[in-house]
Amino acid sequence: MKKLIDKLYKARSLTREEYKELIDNRNPELADYLFERARAVRIENYGHDVYMRGLIEFTNYCKNDCYYCGIQRSNSKVQRYRLSKKQILECCLIGYELGFRTFVLQGGEDPYFTDEKLVDIIHSIRASYPDCAITLSIGEKSYESYKAYFEAGADRYLLRHETADPNHFNRLHPRELSLERRKQCLYDLKEIGYQVGCGFMVGSPYQTTDSIVEDLLFIKELNPHMIGVGPFIPHMQTVFANEDAGTLELTVFLLGIIRLMLPSVLLPATTALGTIDPKGRELGILAGANVVMPNLSPISVREKYSLYDNKICTGDEAAECRHCMQGRIESIGYKLVTSRGDHISIL
Ligand code: 5AD
Ligand code: FES
Repeated sequence: MKKLIDKLYKARSLTREEYKELIDNRNPELADYLFERARAVRIENYGHDVYMRGLIEFTNYCKNDCYYCGIQRSNSKVQRYRLSKKQILECCLIGYELGFRTFVLQGGEDPYFTDEKLVDIIHSIRASYPDCAITLSIGEKSYESYKAYFEAGADRYLLRHETADPNHFNRLHPRELSLERRKQCLYDLKEIGYQVGCGFMVGSPYQTTDSIVEDLLFIKELNPHMIGVGPFIPHMQTVFANEDAGTLELTVFLLGIIRLMLPSVLLPATTALGTIDPKGRELGILAGANVVMPNLSPISVREKYSLYDNKICTGDEAAECRHCMQGRIESIGYKLVTSRGDHISIL
């Protein structure tokens, strides 16, 4: 199996069969070998720097009904909220003072936030923080909408594809969503000029090694700037309440593989990874990840943005998360930096 890792390291890709073989035959020793290689590759590209992104969860209203997600429209127990433009700008100000140079506006697909409102918010952030990157994570939109946000000053867009296996996609989402449409959005975003992030959950219900291999092949094809990969975690108010969560072990193994496939990709150690294991984010960094995304949302709304159960950091001030994160990153010999942290190809 080490041979496959060597091949991946050199060729930056494997065949469908080889990915499957590598994943199905993984063991702790092999994982250590993979992580060593993955760290070497990330250090060549980004040194020991870890970029931070301030996550602003500005609305938990959503018109979609993804079966795994806690804020799906049919969850009537969620207390819905929206941040005002003023509140969003306050989050940015607090974040800026803490050293954040990327703001990620994330929300459900909330029709209240029309293109006009979004463009206005993006414009205002762009005007107040010309040295910061603005990342959007607000779901599927038309080409024209994506273009309008880009022209207003957004730089990056996160839209996880969730799974690149169409049958699997249909078991995670109602009929109104499709993998084809999701992929089209990702290609549109790239064409417009965004730094684009796709991604998937590890251990989501009905996921097989074959579907993971599809994810890897799709990632290679799209060649995104960023990739969000975290474990699935059940939410008690969804139909997947009694399903198992994804594992730390498989998630970090996949992070290592992805680092070798796309040496310069921006790869977060996700909050979900920190939720399933107290050292999850550190282990993610040690497997090749190079981004963390602490929460900048007001504490009063954090519990309400509950995509899955037991999410960490819901009771902590932005400053606490910032400093906690610094301690964690330094404890493993890396450095939390305050630059925009663009993809290497942009510099
Ligand atoms: N467990 C883990 N991740 C989840 N997401 C949504 N619901 C869950 C869950 N139950 C992820 C999806 C989405 C991102 C914002 O959060 O991948 O794209
Ligand atoms: Fe939020 Fe540690 S990162 S408290």
